[in-house]
Amino acid sequence: MKIVVVGSGGRLGAALARELGSDHQVVGFRRKDLDLTSPETIRKMLGDLDFDLLLTPAALTQVDYCEDHVEEAMAVNAMAPGVMAEVAKEKGARMIHFGTDYVFDGKDPEPRKETDPINPLGVYGLSKAEGERAVLAVSEDFVVARVSWVFGPDRPSFLDSIIAKAMEVDEVSAIADKYSSPTFSNDLAKLVSLLIDRPCSGGLLNMCNSGSCSWQEYAQVGIDAALACGVPLRAKQVDAISLEQMGFQAPRPKYTAMSVDRLTQICGQCPRPWQEAVNDYVRRFVAT
Ligand SMILES: NC(=O)c1ccc[n+]([C@@H]2O[C@H](COP(=O)([O-])OP(=O)(O)OC[C@H]3O[C@@H](n4cnc5c(N)ncnc54)[C@H](OP(=O)(O)O)[C@@H]3O)[C@@H](O)[C@H]2O)c1
Repeated sequence: MKIVVVGSGGRLGAALARELGSDHQVVGFRRKDLDLTSPETIRKMLGDLDFDLLLTPAALTQVDYCEDHVEEAMAVNAMAPGVMAEVAKEKGARMIHFGTDYVFDGKDPEPRKETDPINPLGVYGLSKAEGERAVLAVSEDFVVARVSWVFGPDRPSFLDSIIAKAMEVDEVSAIADKYSSPTFSNDLAKLVSLLIDRPCSGGLLNMCNSGSCSWQEYAQVGIDAALACGVPLRAKQVDAISLEQMGFQAPRPKYTAMSVDRLTQICGQCPRPWQEAVNDYVRRFVAT
């Protein structure tokens, strides 16, 4: 299969290009190759290519930056996915676009299902919600894979920062009242690989490791994994702070853990629990 990955320089995009590159012909676009704020450039660059599947993990992902750069956020996260979907449809290709748990308002503590209503709180969530709507308006056969709390070897994330900080100082803390489902980028890329090999109806699809936790629990499992691998940490316990204490500029949803029932049904296997994925990542990529 000929696959195009738009956003191959990002945390998830790099993992997708690597994993799928072993069995397929993959062409990756980084930001310097393809600027998503320009619909003309998107049409020209993608229109010139022959492909069977378009993967679009590229996005403006800095939540607070989006709040002050509404036009750029709407161009990259809302307009560009719709234009890319049009090009994919014209070519008769499949498309998997990547969405976010930030489309939810986070008021309901139950794991979110694909059928649940959305209500984004800030510009990032709103722009991503518009992007998923634009893709599915072009074709109901396209997939919008909602992901959350992505970590992996291609770009540092919260997990890497908390372990690095614990090596430097005696006390670390993380938010104890915000919950979601951590996701290992390499696991996600393998799930995408499974997905494209099976018949699957389009629409929304939650894609994350199974289970859920607070940032504090997530950080503690990462710290415990690093200690178990012999990483010399000064801070061994993660203290609790509240979301409110962080004083973020953009509002954040509190509960956005996602149900993986639909994903399990389609792929024929449940994604492994997030704790197992964190331990595997720390052992293979952090401790070394
Ligand atoms: N990371 C998470 O925890 C998380 C959570 C929920 C959903 N998601 C979603 O998952 C997807 C992948 O996220 P990620 O963690 O891989 O994000 P990432 O590492 O920030 O990657 C996003 C990529 O998009 C590129 N990009 C930004 N603006 C662009 C533009 N104007 N033109 C072309 N490319 C542009 C970035 O390029 P530069 O590197 O040059 O800026 C980057 O390579 C995104 O759709 C995101 O919304 C992520």
